[in-house]
Amino acid sequence: MNTAATATKESLCEAIRNCGSDDEAFFGYPVKEDGLFLQQDPDEFASFVEYLASNFPPSKLSIDIGIAAGGNTKFVRDYYPVEKTIILDIGQHPRHGHWPRIKKQVRTDIILEIIDDSHAPHVREKLLPYAGKIDYAFVDGDHSYRGLKQDIFLMKELLMPGAVMTLHDTHAVEDCNRVFEELKHSEDFELLKNFVSRFGISVWRYTGKGKSTVGYLNRRFGWGRL
Ligand SMILES: C[S@@+](CC[C@H](N)C(=O)[O-])C[C@H]1O[C@@H](n2cnc3c(N)ncnc32)[C@H](O)[C@@H]1O
Repeated sequence: MNTAATATKESLCEAIRNCGSDDEAFFGYPVKEDGLFLQQDPDEFASFVEYLASNFPPSKLSIDIGIAAGGNTKFVRDYYPVEKTIILDIGQHPRHGHWPRIKKQVRTDIILEIIDDSHAPHVREKLLPYAGKIDYAFVDGDHSYRGLKQDIFLMKELLMPGAVMTLHDTHAVEDCNRVFEELKHSEDFELLKNFVSRFGISVWRYTGKGKSTVGYLNRRFGWGRL
C-alpha cells in the first residue's frame, strides 16, 4: 500500500488509473467493475492528493458532500489520514449503488452518513452538532451556481477557522467557475492552490475572518456574498 510518505505524482497517477474511472470515453482510463469509478482527471487529482498529503496535518473530522460511488472519498483517505468522516449525498448518482462495497474499504471512521439533499433544513439540523469542528471538506455535490453557494454557506457554519475546503469542477463547470470567482473576494476564504488540468480542483483555507453570519436567504436560496 502506498502511503503519503512514499507516494509520488507518478505513482499516484498510476494508482488512479488502476482504480478505474466512471466512464472510459470521458475520463480516458478504463472502468473496473470492482473498482472506484473515479470521476477525476489522473494528472489533476494526483497533483491534488500529493499536495494535500504533503502540506497539511491529518484531519480529525472531515465532510464529503457529493460522493457518487465514494471512490474519491476512499482514494484520498488512502494517502491523507482522516480520523472521522461525515458523508452527505442525495443518493441519486447512477454509481451510488457501489457505495456499500467501497465504504468498507475507506480508511476512516464514518461517524455520520446522510443520504439526503444537502440544502434541506433538516439535514443542516443533523450537522449543527459539528458546527465549528470540521477541519477538512471536499465539496462536489450540486453543481448549480446557487446550489454550490448553498453548500459553501453550510460549510461556513461547520468549518473551524483554519480548515481546508476543496471544491471540484471550478474550472470546467460554468456555474462552479462563477462561484470560484466570487469566492476569491470572500473575507472568509483564501485560495491556497488551484489545480487545473481539466476539471479544476481548488483548495481553500477557511479563515473565518468575515463579519457576516450565515442567514436564512443564504441557506434557502444561495443568495448573498460568500
Ligand atoms: C459529480 S458527482 C460527485 C463525484 C465524486 N465526488 C467523485 O469524485 O467521484 C456529484 C454528486 O453530488 C450529489 N448531489 C447532487 N446534488 C446534491 C444535493 N443537493 N445534496 C447532496 N448531494 C448532491 C450527486 O448525487 C452525486 O453523487
